[in-house]
Amino acid sequence: MPTWDADLYLRFAEERTRPCRELAARVMIDAPRRVIDLGCGPGNSTQVVAERWPAAEVIGLDNSAAMIAVAREAQPERTWVQADVAEWATSTDQPPFDIVFSNAALQWVDDHASLFPRLVEKLVPRGALAVQLPSNWNAPAHQAARDLASSPEWRDTFPRGSVREWHVEEPTFYCDLLAGQVSKLDLWETEYFQVMPSAEAIVEWYRGTGLRPYLDRLSDDARRESFLAAYLEQIHQRYPTRRDGSVAFPFRRLFIVAYR
Ligand SMILES: C[S@@+](CC[C@H](N)C(=O)[O-])C[C@H]1O[C@@H](n2cnc3c(N)ncnc32)[C@H](O)[C@@H]1O
Repeated sequence: MPTWDADLYLRFAEERTRPCRELAARVMIDAPRRVIDLGCGPGNSTQVVAERWPAAEVIGLDNSAAMIAVAREAQPERTWVQADVAEWATSTDQPPFDIVFSNAALQWVDDHASLFPRLVEKLVPRGALAVQLPSNWNAPAHQAARDLASSPEWRDTFPRGSVREWHVEEPTFYCDLLAGQVSKLDLWETEYFQVMPSAEAIVEWYRGTGLRPYLDRLSDDARRESFLAAYLEQIHQRYPTRRDGSVAFPFRRLFIVAYR
C-alpha cells in the first residue's frame, strides 16, 4: 500500500480534478439522497460531488489517515470515514447509496472482477456507479519506471513482483463484467493532452502517485533521490522537450457510469 502526501498530490489539483468534474457531469441522477466518494483523497473529488449534488448527504472514504485528516480540516461539515474500499464493499451494515463515486482511486484496489459487482450491489435500484481510472498503464512514464526497476543497478532492490503497480483493465473487461448486472452502461475514454512546464514536472506528478510503490521500497532519502534522478533521465529521453521548454504529457483516462 503506497504512502500518500496530500500537498504533493494537490500540486496538480486542476489536472487531477478536471476528469472528476467531467465524470460527475455525466451522471444522469438529479437529486440523489446519499452519495459516497471512494478513495476521496484530500477531499478534492468530494468537493466536486458536493457541488454537483448540493442537497445530498456526501460521505468521503479513504484508507489513508493523512488524506482523511486533510479532507476533514478543509471540509469539516462532511462525514469522513477511514476505511479500505475492498472491505467496505463486502460490508452489509449500511443503507444503499444513490451514487457510488470514485475518481482516480480504484486502480489501487485489487480484483476488479469481484469489486465492481459488489459496488453495484451497494446501489439503490437505478442508482449509479461512477468511476474514473487512469488507463495509461503502458504510457512511456510507466514503462520508464519498470525498465529502471529491472535495470542492473536497481533489480536487487526491486525483485520481480515486488512493486504493486496500478491495476486497470481494458474497457471491454468492465463492459462484459457489468453488462448482465446493470440497466445502462456509459463507458468512454478521454486522452488529456497535458502540457507540462518541464520534464521535472512529470517526475513531480508521478512522485505523488504512480512512483509511490517504488519510492516506498527505498530505505533512505539518498536512495530515493538517486532513483528519481535516474527516472528524470528516462523521462527526458521518452518525452521530448518542445521549443518553448514545455513537455507534452498525454494522459488517457477511462470513465464508467453504470446504472443499476
Ligand atoms: C490518486 S488519489 C485520488 C484522490 C481523489 N479521489 C481525486 O479525485 O483526486 C487515490 C486515493 O485512493 C486512496 N486509496 C488507495 N487504495 C485505497 C483503498 N484500498 N481503500 C481506500 N482508499 C484507497 C488513497 O489513499 C488516495 O487518497
